[in-house]
Amino acid sequence: MADDQLNETERLDRAHVFGTWAYQSEVSPKEIVEAGGVRFTAADGEEYLDFSGQLMCSNLGHSARRVAEAMADQAREAAYVAPGFTTEARARLGELLADVTPGELTKTFFSTSGTEAVEAAIKIARSYTGKEKILSRYRSYHGATYGSISVTGDPRRLAAEPAIPGAIKAPDPYAYGSTLEPMESLSYIDEMLTLEGDTVAAVLVEPIVGSNGILVPPDEYLPRLREIAHAHGALFICDEVMSGFGRTGEWFGCDVFDVTPDIMTTAKGLTGAYAPLGATTVTGEIAAHFEENMFCHGHTYSGHPVACRAGVAAIRTYREEGLIDHAGRVGAYLGDRLDELANAHPSVGDVRGVGLFRGIELTKSSEKRVPFGHREDKLSKGSTVVDEVGDRAAANGTYLATMINTLIVAPPLSITRDEVDEAVSHVDDALTVADRAMVD
Ligand SMILES: Cc1ncc(COP(=O)(O)O)c(C=O)c1O
Repeated sequence: MADDQLNETERLDRAHVFGTWAYQSEVSPKEIVEAGGVRFTAADGEEYLDFSGQLMCSNLGHSARRVAEAMADQAREAAYVAPGFTTEARARLGELLADVTPGELTKTFFSTSGTEAVEAAIKIARSYTGKEKILSRYRSYHGATYGSISVTGDPRRLAAEPAIPGAIKAPDPYAYGSTLEPMESLSYIDEMLTLEGDTVAAVLVEPIVGSNGILVPPDEYLPRLREIAHAHGALFICDEVMSGFGRTGEWFGCDVFDVTPDIMTTAKGLTGAYAPLGATTVTGEIAAHFEENMFCHGHTYSGHPVACRAGVAAIRTYREEGLIDHAGRVGAYLGDRLDELANAHPSVGDVRGVGLFRGIELTKSSEKRVPFGHREDKLSKGSTVVDEVGDRAAANGTYLATMINTLIVAPPLSITRDEVDEAVSHVDDALTVADRAMVD
């Protein structure tokens, strides 16, 4: 947008603040002045239905007063204490996480973001196993800092390479767009682990891949992957930063498949995005290792009281408002509505997902499954047809995140069926942009 069309905030921001993952000449941030429920409003008066929960993180919607008030109370009582002290907020949140996470997960390291949660997981896995390598997958995103971007598979890692040593990558369970069948990709991982010998500390996966296209594995994939990892002496790490906290209609993505990780990373929905907070939660057995081996990691803001208090209030809100069951129910309805879009639009190649975590993958040619957006586009200038669909949805009043070739649907968990219908009608119209751009 031309500078003279920006308001003062937007001009100042453009001049003095970096836009993320972007050529700065293409950055043109819109000022948001208000948000409530599943909607937010821009300074120019435009209102949007938030069909992606901002960056797939606003699981509680935009008016969770209980969380906001808990944060304000904590800021007044004791805004910050060094990590060597504790607060009730930090201790309670550790306890609540042990309670809501599956299996033997019991002890947490707190950081301030998803990427830091993954960094800690990598260091913990290396220290616990005494091995160096981390096996992750190509269609994955684990964060922007050096360790996490190194184990990330998507093209954003290329700008940060050479990666940290020991980051090895495997194919993904991606039935629509890969030449390998999902379960074949699993055999590939088994073979890789055999050939790597006893050098792999952990297998790290998003149980349901998020920003790389909402890839849902077959039911038997994750339990088998866990078995394979363990058979090769590697830990099994689930990165639940995007799939956690009710997004799937279960507390965590791994709960959908009844599988329990040795280490789980969370952030985003942990506070419903009211405060920046990351968590790396490990089993009692892994925790015990650090009784007599140094836990050689930490941050100034580890266990920040205001963020932890937000986390406590968020988990209580998920529980007491029944948001996770609600997400399962409305999520099933959303799935049906997206299937209707797939039937109505030839440019919709695939719709997939669980609960309120869904993806609409587009194609130029339904027969040949040619994507509109390619992995390389993540690093190039200009917009794709997928972005244009997102822009049209926004012009219609629905905000929809676009990632490579997929529209990502991940609204606040409180969304109603009527709100789903409203957003779907906006997306229905926006998809005509892609239908018209098809090559057959
Ligand atoms: C699965 C996953 N892991 C890690 C991250 C990094 O989180 P953050 O952006 O909070 O550092 C993300 C961010 O989208 C994510 O989706």
